[in-house]
Amino acid sequence: MWNRDEQDSQFSQMIEARLSRRRFLVGTAAVSAGAFLSLNPIAKAFAADKQSALLNFEAVPVSTSDEIVVPKGYKAKPLLSWGDPIFPGAPEFDQSGKQDSKAQQRQFGDNTDGMSLFPISDDRAVIAVNNEYTNYEYLFDHGGDAMTADDVLKAQAAHGVTVFEIVKSGGEWKLDKSGKRNRRITANTEMMLTGPAAGHALMKTELDPSGMKPLGTFNNCANGQTPWGTYLTCEENFHGYFGTREEGADISADHKRYGIKAAASSYQWHDADERFDVAKHPNEPHRFGWVVEIDPHNPDATPLKRTALGRFKHENAAVVVNDDGHVVVYLGDDERGEHLYKFVSKHKYKPGNDKANRDLLEEGTLYVARFDMDDKELKGNGEWIELTYGKNGLTKENGFNDQAEVMIFARRAATQVGATTMDRPEWVAVHPDNKHVFCTLTNNKNRGVKENQPVGGPNPRAQNNYGQIVRWMPQGGDHTKSGFEWDLYLIAGNPVVHKGTPYAGSENINADNMFNSPDGIGFDKAGRLWIQTDGKYSNKGDFAGQGNNQMLCGDPMTGEVRRFLTGPIACEITGLTFSPDYKTMFVGVQHPGEDGAPSHFPAGGNSKPRSTIVAITREDGGVIGA
Ligand code: FEO
Ligand code: CA
Ligand code: CA
Repeated sequence: MWNRDEQDSQFSQMIEARLSRRRFLVGTAAVSAGAFLSLNPIAKAFAADKQSALLNFEAVPVSTSDEIVVPKGYKAKPLLSWGDPIFPGAPEFDQSGKQDSKAQQRQFGDNTDGMSLFPISDDRAVIAVNNEYTNYEYLFDHGGDAMTADDVLKAQAAHGVTVFEIVKSGGEWKLDKSGKRNRRITANTEMMLTGPAAGHALMKTELDPSGMKPLGTFNNCANGQTPWGTYLTCEENFHGYFGTREEGADISADHKRYGIKAAASSYQWHDADERFDVAKHPNEPHRFGWVVEIDPHNPDATPLKRTALGRFKHENAAVVVNDDGHVVVYLGDDERGEHLYKFVSKHKYKPGNDKANRDLLEEGTLYVARFDMDDKELKGNGEWIELTYGKNGLTKENGFNDQAEVMIFARRAATQVGATTMDRPEWVAVHPDNKHVFCTLTNNKNRGVKENQPVGGPNPRAQNNYGQIVRWMPQGGDHTKSGFEWDLYLIAGNPVVHKGTPYAGSENINADNMFNSPDGIGFDKAGRLWIQTDGKYSNKGDFAGQGNNQMLCGDPMTGEVRRFLTGPIACEITGLTFSPDYKTMFVGVQHPGEDGAPSHFPAGGNSKPRSTIVAITREDGGVIGA
């Protein structure tokens, strides 16, 4: 099955050895607890490898304290917090909540999320980072109860993307406010649509009759980085910004599939900015839910919305150049019972010719995944199904008039072709061997409850509140092929509370490394799998002993998982990137103190909690994790 010529790493040999073992079978209708416990294929195959050679740090214990904790010999320092000025002369953060939109437009946005670093020289780089959303209880002195038109502009300016240069001095990376690439991209920045849906009738609005020039990007969750030096930002929960105060407004079934409601939005943007009133401007939401490509080196470049990658609640965009030069992008749609996608470019990557590569994401084919759903198996085969107008039932009779509609209503197209409903696909990451792909399925309380979300395959637990990580190998190591083989890298759980049941998790989960809701993942150059959590931090009930959200590090060969970092109170850990020498790791701490929880991170005292990027280094200057 595997392509030995192309890939003969120890990792591939291990996977092959494991997959050739007897398939696991149990006799009952549902997978037994024993199956979960013995699932961890890698730990089993490599039971002799007690100690991972990749992970060389001391695990940190769970924490409920209001700080970042990193292993002995490491330090974590704030690099940039919400509201910090990123241009010369921009105002400093003022925690009164009274600063206006003009200040926020020149400061770091709120709720840091996915990010990528682009090297410029040995001691200079540029980081592009998402500002996913904002918390009105901290953004405004009135907590959102007395919104003015400028407050709406301020909230819009707290969203989007921040691009900023960093310089290395005295061994530490720091913001350079004078960096010529520094830029704020907000919910009001002019963008350009490209690909099959650009200019389509469903994209035209009163404000933009061309259907080509949407304003802004928001709810930018995670990210991607192309080998031609651009940043991909992914629009996730865009539905929450649209609404109306019109009584009994008619909302299309297609809008409902994406969660848009005929009710006021809690962000209240539609009260001051009419384009967010879905009753008045029903096409405006079609212009969101895309992957946006940004050139971080040119602050004047227009961000490009790539409609060939489909419209859904995008989590991240994991880019890999296939051996034949086609660019493949794996994409998750983060909603209970939605799907996992892949895009294959029409044209091929030309190394060293970034100008020729610039539009590789404009044309190509989108696919959606169907997994074997045997409820007795924790591994199997899968297939990528093409989402092309005229194929696989994507026809007029079934409600699709052209390729643009297939892309705009990608969720409906995925249902039409029989895609597998998943436990909320979050980030996808490709192993540095360029073959094995991992995806976090964060949790799904609807699994086994809603008819369209049966238990089985890579979603093996009903009312799954802990999550799992699925892994697949494309047929022959070729990402453009329709077939793949999958298994589960880990199943999160609580082996203290749920001894001997499927909710204890897989064999590589124990009382010392347990967590819930894996979300952000990424590999470093050596192949360490970094896992970030966005889960329940109550530390009670099902989550007793799991503490605050955290970051772990996994060895994809031995299956060992070790806790590397714990975050402050009521935060989520999300976003990671490295300096080119892998000696500094940048990690995002999002929404510390959400819903009024008692956090004062990072400044302490009585300060407001602020979403913050931290820079993590080793006291001896070594490579992170090594
Ligand atoms: Fe923005 Fe799916 O997390
Ligand atoms: Ca996420
Ligand atoms: Ca999440």
